[in-house]
Amino acid sequence: MGKSIVFVGGGQMAEAFIKGLLQSQEATPDTIYVVEPDPLRRSHLETLFHVTTAEPGAPLPAAAQTVILAVKPQVMGGVLADLKDQLTDRLVITVAAGLPLSFYASYVGDQVPVIRVMPNIATLVLAGASVLCRNQQVTDEQLAEAEKLFDSVGTTTVVEERLMDAVTGLSGSGPAFLLTFIEGLMDGGIKVGLDQRTARQLAIQTVFGTALLAQVSGEHPAELRARVTSPGGTAISGLQTMEEAGFRGTVMVAVEAAVKRSKELGGS
Ligand SMILES: NC(=O)c1ccc[n+]([C@@H]2O[C@H](COP(=O)([O-])OP(=O)(O)OC[C@H]3O[C@@H](n4cnc5c(N)ncnc54)[C@H](OP(=O)(O)O)[C@@H]3O)[C@@H](O)[C@H]2O)c1
Repeated sequence: MGKSIVFVGGGQMAEAFIKGLLQSQEATPDTIYVVEPDPLRRSHLETLFHVTTAEPGAPLPAAAQTVILAVKPQVMGGVLADLKDQLTDRLVITVAAGLPLSFYASYVGDQVPVIRVMPNIATLVLAGASVLCRNQQVTDEQLAEAEKLFDSVGTTTVVEERLMDAVTGLSGSGPAFLLTFIEGLMDGGIKVGLDQRTARQLAIQTVFGTALLAQVSGEHPAELRARVTSPGGTAISGLQTMEEAGFRGTVMVAVEAAVKRSKELGGS
């Protein structure tokens, strides 16, 4: 990005983004400023990344064109009330789950450009799936800058705001579903005699490698699956059991249930 960035909230998400920005050389430590109440977090971030930090209440640096709000949704209203006069000339990016763009407008007015992001937990290892939507004040150039920023911690997809609940159900909640699947693979391995360490390593690498294969090949999962399902073989026996148990339908319903809950939490 080249210009200064302010993070409001220096927790897990902010740390992941700072790491990604520095590793990808999208930013240098002297261009990153973090507002964070916890002195231990501040000194952790200063030591790890050599960035500048401050307690809430200090004026935001005038040169920072972008402010990334990385606090919990429950405290967002208070943060916006405190900062609203300092946000008017900047691009505001929020990673808080669930809060609609109209929530920000109710504090800062509708003339401030705001980008809402749904990141996921894999952002912490720079392999996240971030989904962005914007309000009408965000220019194409600002959106492109934000996409570059989120590309440094994984992949970035832009959608209309009406689809944010849908992506929350898929990429936001998806890690929880996949971790349950990994645990199931592990337990299956243990049931047939593997030790826990071996089962864990094989389950994780199998999911990781298969996801990479699906990504690199670009093929539909059904085509790839057909290649590893030989007639009368082992995979088709296991697949029959999964189909009889309604595995695919269960996953679909899990995504739908997460979307429904996201809507409830967002008040729609
Ligand atoms: N972690 C994820 O996987 C994930 C995924 C999707 C979306 N998100 C969203 O990302 C946001 C941040 O999540 P997180 O996991 O990074 O949470 P976190 O680790 O709790 O970080 C939030 C930080 O904000 C600080 N804070 C509280 N009040 C503040 C204030 N007035 N000014 C500045 N900083 C303040 C907190 O300090 P104290 O602890 O001292 O209060 C904490 O260090 C949340 O809105 C969440 O919905 C997270």
